[in-house]
Amino acid sequence: MSGIFVSFEGIDGAGKSTHIHTLAQRLEQQGRVVTLTREPGGTPLAEKLRLLVLNEPMDPMTEALLVFAARREHICHVIVPALARGEVVLCDRFTDASFAYQGAGRGFDTAILSQLEHWVQGSPANGGDVSKHVFVQPDLTFWFDLPAQVAASRLTIARSPDKFEAQSKDFFDRVSQGYALRMAADPQRFARIDANQPQDAVWTAVQQVARARRLLTND
Ligand code: TYD
Repeated sequence: MSGIFVSFEGIDGAGKSTHIHTLAQRLEQQGRVVTLTREPGGTPLAEKLRLLVLNEPMDPMTEALLVFAARREHICHVIVPALARGEVVLCDRFTDASFAYQGAGRGFDTAILSQLEHWVQGSPANGGDVSKHVFVQPDLTFWFDLPAQVAASRLTIARSPDKFEAQSKDFFDRVSQGYALRMAADPQRFARIDANQPQDAVWTAVQQVARARRLLTND
């Protein structure tokens, strides 16, 4: 049995984190073993890189290299071994976030991001049988799509913002466009969820996709 790799994406404030936890619980109720993880992060070293990326001002290329360095650690030590064990990997953000935030948001060269994507996700990582995962890419990506204005109003009532959460509405408009481009380039992988509706309606939409993709069963 090989695992299933699912990523969750969207601008800050889109509400993906609530649904990733609910989906993890539902999958476990249905007997699946779930690895719930996040990027940047997911290993002790990658979590250290996360703290730097989210809090320190830095050159855009440095930022891109650090998110991909964290990703390499995460792929090698968490994602590929979990998939080889047949688990469901639910990942709060993955490479689409690099294209959306570093690429579309910051304006960093997407050709370089594509190269990093192929280096970092392209070669076999250690741990378990990786033969089925020569190119590590999510099987399914939920994109929680929400207007930047609405997301900003949700964030103002949350905790103090990190480096990205403090960005302007224009930045998040560009990030959304970045996600739309990634979806257009790989429509089979993506499921766009309209996040501009009540939480239970968003959860219904998530479940519908999960059932259609045979991630959840119908009970
Ligand atoms: P987020 O996933 O929103 O976590 P939390 O809910 O704890 O705030 O925060 C991660 C931030 O990192 C988010 O603002 C997007 C950013 N990010 C990038 O800029 N590039 C990346 O490749 C990834 C994975 C995240």
